[in-house]
Amino acid sequence: MNPVLEAIRSRRVVRSMTGEPVARADLEAVLDAARWAPTAGNRHLQRFVVTDDPGTLRVLRMVSPGMIARPPAAIAICVDRALAADYGFPPGAAGPSVDVGTAAATILLAAHSLGLGAVPVTSFSRAAVAVVLRLPEGTTADMILCLGHPAPGGPGPLRRGRKVTWQDLTTFVP
Ligand SMILES: Cc1cc2nc3c(=O)[nH]c(=O)nc-3n(C[C@H](O)[C@H](O)[C@H](O)COP(=O)(O)O)c2cc1C
Repeated sequence: MNPVLEAIRSRRVVRSMTGEPVARADLEAVLDAARWAPTAGNRHLQRFVVTDDPGTLRVLRMVSPGMIARPPAAIAICVDRALAADYGFPPGAAGPSVDVGTAAATILLAAHSLGLGAVPVTSFSRAAVAVVLRLPEGTTADMILCLGHPAPGGPGPLRRGRKVTWQDLTTFVP
C-alpha cells in the first residue's frame, strides 16, 4: 500500500507509554513536521510549547483530566490570539482553531512515523495550563499532545478498527 495511506490507517492513539524519554532529535523532527501543516492565510499562528520535565508533566496531568497517559513529553499546541487579531481574524474565527487541528494531525502522523505513540488531549483547564506553561498574555493552549514510546501490550496498530466507513461520512453531490 502507498506508505502515506498506510501510515494514516495504522496510526492509533497511544495512552500507555513507557518511561523512556523521547529523544530531543525526535521531538525536533515532529515540531519541524508541524510547521508544514497548512494554516489559515499561511499566518502560522500556532505556538508549540514543549516539555519533557517530569515535574512540569506531573503538574500538567493534575490540571488535565483527559491526560490518561503518563507521557515523558508533551507538546501544547497554542494559538497566538493577539497576533490573530492583528491579522484581522475576528474573535471566534474558525481559522486559528482549525490550524490547531492541522498541526495536531501532522504531529500525530510524524510521531507515528518515528515509532512514537501519541494522544491528543483537549480536556484540561485552559487557565491552569497557561500558568503551568508560562504562556504569554494573548496566547491560549488549545490542545496537548502526549508523546512517548508505546508500552508493550498496549493496543497495537490496526487492532482497533473504525466504527464508520468513508461511505457513512460522505455524500457526493452531482
Ligand atoms: C479534538 C480531540 C480531543 C481529544 N481529547 C482527548 C482527551 O482529552 N483524552 C484522550 O485520552 N483522548 C482524546 N482524544 C483522542 C480520541 O479519543 C481518539 O482519537 C479517538 O478515540 C479515535 O482513536 P484513534 O485516534 O486511535 O483512531 C481526542 C481527540 C481529538 C481529535
